[in-house]
Amino acid sequence: MKTEAENLKKSLSIDLVPLRAEHVARVLEIENCCFSQPWREGDFTRLIDNPDSVCLVALARGQVVGYSCCWIVFESAELGNIAVHPDYQCRSVGSRLLKKTVEICRRRRVAALFLEVRTSNRKAIELYELFGFARIGLRRGYYTKPVEDALIMKLVLH
Ligand SMILES: CC(C)(COP(=O)(O)OP(=O)(O)OC[C@H]1O[C@@H](n2cnc3c(N)ncnc32)[C@H](O)[C@@H]1OP(=O)(O)O)[C@@H](O)C(=O)NCCC(=O)NCCS
Repeated sequence: MKTEAENLKKSLSIDLVPLRAEHVARVLEIENCCFSQPWREGDFTRLIDNPDSVCLVALARGQVVGYSCCWIVFESAELGNIAVHPDYQCRSVGSRLLKKTVEICRRRRVAALFLEVRTSNRKAIELYELFGFARIGLRRGYYTKPVEDALIMKLVLH
């Protein structure tokens, strides 16, 4: 049972919009806070205006607080990145980004959504499992800084 304070903390008003060039500077700040091997500017800008990508940002009072990047290849899609600024985590921003990504992929007839996640990333794995992602494999030593295995997860959409 969640306390009232927890519920209030959760009720953050956000808008989800497609990633645009003007968001990239703030996205990079969050990226650098969240990952030891951050994506670079070009990794984000290359996805903007790519018709096969589904990149969203979450705005709270106009400020970027989270983002997700996914790309579609034939009937599959890969969730390549999702992050929420540490000050805004645990307030459903990640869930809302993922929900919208899944909705868009479904509409675009994507059959399955895949992702990789560090095996130690309990928060993210919990989020993915809430959405119905299944653990389908392991890539040994996939990550560096520190070296770690990647858990491969899959969500069947159609
Ligand atoms: C993973 C991440 C995107 C989740 O975003 P978020 O906005 O904090 O997640 P939400 O508030 O929507 O939480 C959704 C669920 O995730 C799980 N979760 C979130 N924070 C958690 C925590 N601190 N501990 C355990 N589970 C947690 C819970 O199951 C939660 O559901 P609940 O709120 O009903 O308990 C965020 O923690 C993040 O940016 N982490 C750093 C970057 C990263 O690791 N990205 C994933 C790379 S694969």
